[in-house]
Amino acid sequence: MKTEAYSPGLEGVIAGITHISNVDPDRNSLMYRGYDICDLSEQSTFEEVAFLLLKGKLPTAQEFDAFKQELIQERALPQQVLETLKSFPKDAHPMDTLRTGAALLALHDSEVTDNSTEANIRKAIRLTAKFPTLIGATHRFAQGQQPIAPDASLNLADNFLYMLTGQKPDPFVGKIMDVSLICYAEHGFNASTFSARVTASTLSDLHSAIVSAIGTLKGPLHGGANEEAMKMLLEVPSVDQAEAYIKDALATKKKIMGFGHREYKTGDPRASILKAYGRELGERLGQPQWSAMADIIEDTMLREKGLHPNVDFPTAYIYYMMGLPINIYTPIFAVARITGWSANVIEQLENNRLFRPKAAYEGPRHRDYTPLANRG
Ligand code: COA
Repeated sequence: MKTEAYSPGLEGVIAGITHISNVDPDRNSLMYRGYDICDLSEQSTFEEVAFLLLKGKLPTAQEFDAFKQELIQERALPQQVLETLKSFPKDAHPMDTLRTGAALLALHDSEVTDNSTEANIRKAIRLTAKFPTLIGATHRFAQGQQPIAPDASLNLADNFLYMLTGQKPDPFVGKIMDVSLICYAEHGFNASTFSARVTASTLSDLHSAIVSAIGTLKGPLHGGANEEAMKMLLEVPSVDQAEAYIKDALATKKKIMGFGHREYKTGDPRASILKAYGRELGERLGQPQWSAMADIIEDTMLREKGLHPNVDFPTAYIYYMMGLPINIYTPIFAVARITGWSANVIEQLENNRLFRPKAAYEGPRHRDYTPLANRG
């Protein structure tokens, strides 16, 4: 490839300016609007982080109360959407039902074509409130059950777990879900956020950008990695055999999902935060084997490939210990990332330039056209 400006996968290319999050691989740090993810996961809540990402500052107590109320009031799905969700094939992947569900919500949002910042914040709040209900409802329908109505007394993370399992979660479990949502909320120009920005850059609308992003998140090199990581952990015969399993997989050039990162080369801060919660959850639930296995796999990956775990490795066994079905792990990621996607769409529109990169053409230069009848 001769063209100097070409970078496969746009690696290292600065494709825009952002004020939302800062991924700093040299310091292994991630900041949302200047606040360290470690401080936010320790002291904040997902709702507060959603406010921060969408509005650019931490809320006052009064603003926060109003914001939380809005999120609670917007949880219900339009009846017609619920009826359509019920008609979906029961074996459809929840990322496919979420993608279609988000598109359906556009049809019922009277502000869908209003691209003002104010309207986009309102739509983002509605989607943030409705995604857990949508995922909860499709999960219940897939099991031949009726959806569980949202509980206004619960925060977003607890209510999400409640609508999935029918049980109000233990506070520690709810706290870990909340922390995982904080860690998943935003991450610079990752593939799904970038696709949302590309869609927004055509002056399409927020819902269309979110549908693009959901489709992009689904892939195993991106959000789909947490599901693949858990499937792999379940294939490892025992803690003692974990090292041999990984070495065998690497010998056959397999990718170990939940490891490696385009930006962080010496560790993902989100993985460190969640790993500690995963260990404590395992101890409390009498399931220490997952962290024990994870430790061995991490050591092996570091020794053999110099690769560290990313956020999708600890969330895999954390959600598994919570008793959640594997096929909703990536939708959980979307429940969080809807906030980051929306903030990026709003930022894109506030200083828009259409994304339209060039391609370096390497196909045939000139061919003489032969009419169909003469082609044999
Ligand atoms: N398991 C095994 N090998 C891996 C690997 C993994 N998870 N991740 C990267 N590598 C290897 C590649 O095979 C390649 O080796 P090679 O040079 O011998 O061919 C080398 O490391 C560089 O990998 P590459 O895929 O080019 O790096 P990248 O910056 O494009 O990759 C990811 C970033 C995330 C796509 C990659 O690490 C990956 O596929 N990880 C697994 C999926 C995942 O966990 N995604 C979630 C990300 S948050």
